[in-house]
Amino acid sequence: MSNMEANSNNSIQISKKRKMSGDTSTLHLDGIPLDTLSEVEKYLEPFRLSLEKLKEVSVRLKKDLIRGLGKHSHHRAAVKMLPTFVRATPDGTGRATRSQSRGDCNIPYRDSSIEKGDYLALDLGGTNFRVLYVRVVEEQQKVVKMDSKICSIPQEMMLGTGEQLFDHIAQCLGEFLESQDLKGQTLPLGFTFSFPCEQKEIDKSILIRWTKGFSCSGVEGQDVVKLLKEAIHRRGDYDIGSVAMVNDTVGTMMSCGYRDQSCEIGMIIGTGTNACYMEEIKNVKRVEGEDGRMCINTEWGGFGDDGSLKDILTEFDEVVDQTSINPGVHTFEKMISGMYLGEIVRLLLVKMAEDKLLFKGETSEALLTPGQFETKYISEIEEPDSGLENAQKILTALGLNWDPVDACVVRLVCDTISSRSARLCAAALATISNRIRVNRGLDHLKTTVGVDGTVYRKHPNFSEELQAAVRLLAPKCDITFLVSEDGSGKGAAMVTAVAQRIALHCWLA
Ligand code: GLC
Repeated sequence: MSNMEANSNNSIQISKKRKMSGDTSTLHLDGIPLDTLSEVEKYLEPFRLSLEKLKEVSVRLKKDLIRGLGKHSHHRAAVKMLPTFVRATPDGTGRATRSQSRGDCNIPYRDSSIEKGDYLALDLGGTNFRVLYVRVVEEQQKVVKMDSKICSIPQEMMLGTGEQLFDHIAQCLGEFLESQDLKGQTLPLGFTFSFPCEQKEIDKSILIRWTKGFSCSGVEGQDVVKLLKEAIHRRGDYDIGSVAMVNDTVGTMMSCGYRDQSCEIGMIIGTGTNACYMEEIKNVKRVEGEDGRMCINTEWGGFGDDGSLKDILTEFDEVVDQTSINPGVHTFEKMISGMYLGEIVRLLLVKMAEDKLLFKGETSEALLTPGQFETKYISEIEEPDSGLENAQKILTALGLNWDPVDACVVRLVCDTISSRSARLCAAALATISNRIRVNRGLDHLKTTVGVDGTVYRKHPNFSEELQAAVRLLAPKCDITFLVSEDGSGKGAAMVTAVAQRIALHCWLA
């Protein structure tokens, strides 16, 4: 039998095996001789999660969601389940509510009217920071982006002091206001701050801990809004109005919620990963009240931080964790999100080269350098038509001595790592959808997820694979996926616009 035939037989066998395990993805096996393939599979097998395993993962997350919601258990919970100030009333109208316990006002989800006017929005969550100037022209949906500016956050700043970071943000905002001739105005500001925060009020948010490569000193345990305002006051050349803080998942859910009434979940799969959803208030033991729903920022990236995912972690995941700036933190995120996927692939390629399975047993300086295999390469290499060509270009740029089989193996490695990510996300999303369904005593749930993030948006088949796996894991949920239109910036502006109206309402009440 020729290599080609053997290879195609083998492909068929593997495809069948994967089909039986509920996997609907197509593996990139072409061009890999059978003997090489079976060697390669030894490295990749630990990354292949069967449907049964994903169901187990889902059961564990289900328990963790409950732990995070508990009054006494939430302190120790790996999945933080943070209450936000976004509420929906039982009739779904999202009328303004006043929290009886503290006398402060909550943000109604899908309010029927948002305050017209001009707003600023800040978006901090990855290596870039965005400032937006938006205008709410009419009721609902009509949030118009007037202009925006992107400022990069240099690596040293991500690891520097909080004061340096907030001074940089204030400077970027100042330059933007100057360029728009807005310095004399005091505009309300929506701040999408995509890190885990204990929200005390809509304008008071305490950072629990940094994630995604940030580690600025003096910020954890502090109110981020206060730090921003202090930085602006240190400059003294402009001021801002009221501030509304949101997580990016919440901003995404809210902006999609205006387009689709059934949007009750927000999900991000980008530099980091996380989701929020509408939970019954009676289940949120930390919040008073029995009626209605509150949006919960799950911070599912922390799933596994108590060791609950030990059985599915590979030696490569352990290295990614140990070499990260926050070892032991955000275990689930490190198996899934854009900040880490490229690094997992790189570590696998190094190991396979060292074991003489790739690149004639040679590595290169670039391949040996952490961070040099970027996550965007995975998407490029998995492109259906140009993938192999892209792989060859990337391997050349990394200084590797590749042959055509190497390029095919690299493609298979990328495929395996992105598939695991999509399937783990699917397990988590299925857990949340099933929870919403059971919460409401429904046999069948029809719901919409607002989604954002570069991995979801840019990878050629990530979304398909995720959706296929969710269908298998949550068969009683019919989920529509809606990609957010202008990322979380627009969502933040909407929250601010609603907050502004509620602030007036509460102030007048
Ligand atoms: C990280 C953050 C979380 C954010 C997510 C996506 O997991 O902790 O708050 O939503 O990244 O950006």
